[in-house]
Amino acid sequence: MTRYVIFTYVLAIILLTGNSLIFAQEDGDKLQLPTGTMTLTAPAHSQTKRSPVVFPHSTHFQFSCKSCHHEWDQASPVEGCASAGCHEKLWASPPGSTPLDAKRIKSLTGAYHKVCRDCHRSELEKIKSQGMSTKKAMSRFTAPIACEECHPASPGAVENATDSLEIPLGTLTLTAPEGSYAKRPPVEFPHGGHFDYSCQTCHHEWDGESPVQNCTVSGCHDQLEADEKTRNINDERNSLYFLAAYHKACIECHRDLRDQREGLERSGVTDESILPAYGPLACNECHADS
Ligand code: HEC
Ligand code: HEC
Ligand code: HEC
Ligand code: HEC
Ligand code: HEC
Ligand code: HEC
Repeated sequence: MTRYVIFTYVLAIILLTGNSLIFAQEDGDKLQLPTGTMTLTAPAHSQTKRSPVVFPHSTHFQFSCKSCHHEWDQASPVEGCASAGCHEKLWASPPGSTPLDAKRIKSLTGAYHKVCRDCHRSELEKIKSQGMSTKKAMSRFTAPIACEECHPASPGAVENATDSLEIPLGTLTLTAPEGSYAKRPPVEFPHGGHFDYSCQTCHHEWDGESPVQNCTVSGCHDQLEADEKTRNINDERNSLYFLAAYHKACIECHRDLRDQREGLERSGVTDESILPAYGPLACNECHADS
């Protein structure tokens, strides 16, 4: 009974205060995201030849979480790389020692070297392909590729910063900001469901470490009406209009993916694992009456 009363009060407050994009956490799932620098070490008791590796986690949030946490389902807790059943072994087993039908899992050393170094190499190639000289590209580029850059001969102390941010993983209910008259029902947005994209796809001003700001905070997309001269959401004059910002971000991505999918389908592709999925495009699919 008391719980019900409290619930009603909270609901009443939410309804009465006109809500500034208040989002209800439907399933309450949250993730504690480490934002500082971590030191990657070999599992305890293993014989090591090289120094531990300093890894600035948040420098890498411009990439999808899944470019490293490739088995993560975007809902459960994130597992360490050397967890049971994953990259448990520091080195690959000798050839022939793993039964042919057993799942082949890369060694921890192999996995790290592949993921870390391959990406750094390909990022450097990307910079070079933009017409920069190798020397200039190298001087601009801070990501380590050589052994000693990751495993320095005289390593500093093992550092594991404890800074972290709480990230909502469940469904957020997006509503029109305070002061605007909402013509449409609010939008149910599966947040964690979008974590195969980089966080900065949407949180484009986020530095990876500071608290994440709401989209409609003052100075950001806080304009409540379209520009007097144009309602075009692609017009510069509407870049701070909240409706334009949301529709541009949400609808453009879903539409691009649908177009890609239809293009592939037209060329005869039927394999669902290649065809991209896309999100809703019709008004009432997003603005659904619950
Ligand atoms: C982009 C970073 C990076 C680069 C570059 C890199 N490593 Fe590693 N290496 C790691 C990580 C991460 C681990 C796993 C964590 C650990 O063992 O410290 C690792 C593990 C190892 C290990 C097994 C653990 C140990 O200390 O014995 C060896 C040996 C090793 N690296 C040698 C090398 C050599 C040789 C090179 C150059 C050819 C190299 N690494 C380049 C990141 C890197
Ligand atoms: C460039 C690779 C990379 C990217 C991108 C990345 N991480 Fe990580 N993350 C790591 C590594 C490496 C660790 C340390 C894992 C270990 O100790 O075994 C880690 C650790 C974590 C941990 C702690 C896990 C534990 O063992 O307690 C969480 C949570 C986490 N990452 C979440 C995320 C999320 C969410 C994103 C996307 C915003 C993300 N990471 C992006 C590489 C990455
Ligand atoms: C998907 C691509 C990608 C992956 C995977 C990746 N990195 Fe990076 N890393 C980058 C980029 C891009 C930079 C920044 C390069 C720049 O702008 O100069 C970077 C920078 C760094 C830096 C230098 C940061 C600084 O402050 O200068 C370190 C150290 C580093 N990475 C270590 C690692 C380690 C260790 C791993 C594996 C656990 C890893 N990276 C995996 C792309 C990646
Ligand atoms: C991919 C999801 C998505 C689709 C599709 C979509 N919208 Fe929206 N719309 C949003 C989000 C998110 C907001 C901002 C939160 C809010 O106001 O509910 C928004 C805001 C609005 C607003 C301003 C707030 C209000 O309720 O008055 C209007 C009007 C609107 N949308 C109309 C439409 C119309 C008409 C269509 C179809 C042509 C449409 N939307 C399609 C996601 C969507
Ligand atoms: C597809 C777009 C999209 C992606 C990708 C995305 N988010 Fe969000 N996120 C949102 C929206 C929309 C909100 C609600 C913002 C609002 O209420 O104005 C939100 C809310 C948040 C909040 C709560 C902000 C607050 O007010 O407390 C945090 C924290 C957050 N996101 C972190 C992340 C992180 C970390 C990632 C990357 C793993 C990420 N988001 C990826 C769209 C996205
Ligand atoms: C960068 C691309 C991208 C952006 C930006 C994006 N989405 Fe999506 N969205 C997707 C993809 C891909 C799917 C399909 C995921 C799937 O079915 O596996 C999806 C699915 C959805 C779904 C359906 C989920 C389900 O369970 O069926 C909703 C609702 C949705 N998106 C709302 C939004 C809203 C609201 C925004 C803006 C705040 C947004 N999306 C921004 C790519 C995007």
